[in-house]
Amino acid sequence: MRLSVIGCGYVGLVTGACLAEAGHNVVCTDIDADRIAKLNAGVVPIYEEHLGRILDSAHKAGRISYTANAGEAIRAGEAIFICVGTPPKESGEADLSAIDHVARQIATEARTPKLVIEKSTVPARTGLELSRALSAYSKNSDVKFRVASNPEFLREGTAVADFFHPDRIVVGVEDPSSAAELREIYRPILEKNFHCPVHEGTCPPGPKAEFLVTTINSAELIKHASNSFLALKISYANVIADLCEKIGANVEEVTHAMGLDPRIGGQFLKAGLGYGGFCFPKDVQAFIHLAAKVGVDFDILKAAERVNKQRIDRFFEKIHQALWVVKGKRVAVLGLAFKANTDDIRFAPALEVVKRLIEEGALIHATDPEAMPRTKALFPHLHYHEDLYEALRDADAALICTEWQSFRRIDWERAGSLMARKLVLDGRNLYTAQRMREMGFEYYSFGRE
Ligand code: UGA
Repeated sequence: MRLSVIGCGYVGLVTGACLAEAGHNVVCTDIDADRIAKLNAGVVPIYEEHLGRILDSAHKAGRISYTANAGEAIRAGEAIFICVGTPPKESGEADLSAIDHVARQIATEARTPKLVIEKSTVPARTGLELSRALSAYSKNSDVKFRVASNPEFLREGTAVADFFHPDRIVVGVEDPSSAAELREIYRPILEKNFHCPVHEGTCPPGPKAEFLVTTINSAELIKHASNSFLALKISYANVIADLCEKIGANVEEVTHAMGLDPRIGGQFLKAGLGYGGFCFPKDVQAFIHLAAKVGVDFDILKAAERVNKQRIDRFFEKIHQALWVVKGKRVAVLGLAFKANTDDIRFAPALEVVKRLIEEGALIHATDPEAMPRTKALFPHLHYHEDLYEALRDADAALICTEWQSFRRIDWERAGSLMARKLVLDGRNLYTAQRMREMGFEYYSFGRE
């Protein structure tokens, strides 16, 4: 099919690339002409595993193109995926101005009927407003619009794999023809009939994705409800970690056993510095806001948010306990990205740690496999090191802030010989206290003795 993708951020680029890889013809557009120029020159503006390779092969095969001319992109597709940002306003409410702008553009630029699909995470009832805007701004009554919601459940860092191997594809529609069209778009993935770029065509056998057809309101709610529940799970595990510290238990033993119960499930129960990124913090806030707007009490989610914010305080209690005075101490910050396998630093707990360290007068030597360029733009005065061991040289403490695989394999003998003091504060529970103490380190983590 001919598809348009509006917005070339994480969601838009991954969606466009993967749909092209699945055999569709995709035209992508973005308001940022510079980003389009880069994409046309073969430069992928974000780090996401497999993405560069897929975009390159789709571009060479002529299945994906980029234009800064939104009208051109809108006219090219039978179906249009809206993948623009919905950032939080000061109040926590989702800012839908980009969606509104795109709706008006589609209404005025389209010359043929379109299926307009919300992919961005939006509060429930946005589809109704989108529908209203499309008809209000359309000048041609022959051009009919149908609206659908197709929330994305991709995780940064594994977005391509998630796209090709989803648990479920949710489509919220107004009529059966939209559901049929969306089923056709996802047919290669539903039938597992594509050359998987992640496993080089040899995907491990697994269950096929569920294709769920719902109302638009339900689809929108499914996305917010899912993300918020995962955030809730993380905060729950973090409170259990605090409790473990107080009563002398081990959070990993507790959450592992909990997770073996299929009603609970073992994922998203890792305690540490808490959740970050551009999805959970903003989606939780937007969901709280939406609930308040319609008079529903969502205190349970407010508590999850509060617990998450307190993770940084908890980390600093440990830092103060270990280091005593922070001012003038040389601190190695290992990890800046909000999680591993991404260069994304938006709402990264690591950056909250950095900000607090700056306030307290620490000398910060930071390292991250992917996120240093973005962090440098925000904090130009930190010392950055490509080499982890250079970051650790002469450090009074090492702070592990992101769960990068490479941080799980640190040669602590070598690190210890370089550091001024053998002190590790592990914000992601990557090591065990026993192992670190055997190597002569003072070691602090979350929810363990
Ligand atoms: C999240 C969801 O997992 C996706 O399903 C969803 O599509 C996406 O948001 C979105 O709305 O676009 P993402 O933000 O990429 O994906 O990252 P996650 O892997 O979910 O991690 C979120 C945060 O939680 C990270 O900071 C991570 O370190 C933290 N986390 C995760 C924990 O602290 N503990 C855990 O057990 C798991």
